[in-house]
Amino acid sequence: MGKDVIIACDFSSGQKTLEFLDRFGGKKPFVKIGMELYYAEGPSIVEKIKNRGHKIFLDLKLHDIPNTVKKAMAVLSGLDVDMTNLHAAGGSQMMRAAIEGLTRPDGTRPLLIAVTQLTSTDAATLKNELLIDTPMADTVLSYAKSAMASGLDGVVCSPLEAEGVHKNCGKNFLTVTPGVRFADGDIGDQKRVMTPAEAKKAGSDYIVVGRPITAAEDPVAAYERCVREFID
Ligand code: C5P
Repeated sequence: MGKDVIIACDFSSGQKTLEFLDRFGGKKPFVKIGMELYYAEGPSIVEKIKNRGHKIFLDLKLHDIPNTVKKAMAVLSGLDVDMTNLHAAGGSQMMRAAIEGLTRPDGTRPLLIAVTQLTSTDAATLKNELLIDTPMADTVLSYAKSAMASGLDGVVCSPLEAEGVHKNCGKNFLTVTPGVRFADGDIGDQKRVMTPAEAKKAGSDYIVVGRPITAAEDPVAAYERCVREFID
């Protein structure tokens, strides 16, 4: 898998999502299905989007005791997704159990990525609410090293942290980075953001872009702008 732009399809129904994807015609962007859409539609929406020829990142951010996560991942392994994820904060035992659950009988499995710290979390929240005194960059790195040691394929982090993760975990350890905004766009609730071009320079492997594309007047043009800035 190479560098790619993943569109966060945070829609409330399958119908809205499929209508949105219809606008792309023959283009088949990599699609992220998150909690809103998955909880609304269930596994059938994964199948429908896959059948249209899209790659899928199933972003359900599992975080529970190891046994529960293992069993849930075993269920998700039956879906034909390319990437899925969990919270590194669940610990290394949970991450190893997740890999076991996600691995199919034939040995294959989707890529498994760990969320380090949400890109909506800023330094003050980390310190005052999560009670983590370690600076953000070091916290993210520590979670990334733990994910790598547990056998995961990469992390979700801010593009601001992608370079540090690659330096410490190697260039093949994937960085999947939300918190991407156009230079002239709204930041919204995201706190740690970069433009697609900056994310490219920082070495992100995948950028996850939601509202800058889904809420754009011309989503296809916004997607193409992301691709131009991030890949070309
Ligand atoms: O609309 P926006 O570009 O902010 O969408 C970002 C997407 O990435 C959302 O679907 C959000 O759930 C997801 N995400 C994130 N930060 C993380 C992990 C996932 O923003 N750390």
